[in-house]
Amino acid sequence: MDNIQLLKKLWNDYSQRTPSAQKVKDLFESEGNHVANDHIAFRTFDDDKINIDVLATAFTKNGYVFKADYHFKKKKLYAKHFEHKTDKNAPLIFISQLITRALSSELQNAIKSILNTADFSTVTPESLIYSGRLWDKPSYALYLKLLAESEYAAWLYVNGFCPNHFTVNVNKLSTFNNLQDVNSFLKTNGFKMNTSGGEIKGTPNQFLEQSSILADKISIEFQEGIYNITSCYYEFAYRYKIGGKLFKGFIADSADKIFESTDMVLN
Ligand code: NI
Repeated sequence: MDNIQLLKKLWNDYSQRTPSAQKVKDLFESEGNHVANDHIAFRTFDDDKINIDVLATAFTKNGYVFKADYHFKKKKLYAKHFEHKTDKNAPLIFISQLITRALSSELQNAIKSILNTADFSTVTPESLIYSGRLWDKPSYALYLKLLAESEYAAWLYVNGFCPNHFTVNVNKLSTFNNLQDVNSFLKTNGFKMNTSGGEIKGTPNQFLEQSSILADKISIEFQEGIYNITSCYYEFAYRYKIGGKLFKGFIADSADKIFESTDMVLN
């Protein structure tokens, strides 16, 4: 699968789980914009079979190279970002992993037992990125237990391997000049923003501003019945120039707050 086919497959999977993203993209296009992707983000556990470097295989085989890494101490996460060597229009790829040894022994054991039921025979390192959930039908009781300690672990347990978010490249939208205008447009159209750390994360001095709408919820069949659970969200990024070129990295403090777009509020 070449990079264009891979990105298309990922978008199809993501937009089915994230109806709001397709609606926002359609809205931007109806205003006369071409929507370009700034980056796509993925989540995983730090297990050797599925860690960042394994999950990145689909991209590294398609011309992507490692660029920088990031630490999120409080959320117990580590992340790397990858860039395409030659295609300047290809989205950046941001992959994070949960540092399981930093969790309670109870949660470490829970994650071990989840991975023990996973069927890796049907996937290759290249196909892992879009393979979805490889383990048994989730238990809602276990989901709640994970959620109490790590929203990230709970999300990954239910959603499996899929894009966590796509990100609109706001610099390339022709009818918007800044992120503030994008946010106003989204709110006018009824979308709810992630306000953790403010609606806009990052400043011009950090060369990157980001915002996101809250994740959609989808019906998931658990062992105990059907529950509505957060799936994925759409993000918006505006980049500033540094040394004459648009900044291409990420800001750990901003990403830290963006992770909270999938926070699950229990009724
Ligand atoms: Ni992002």
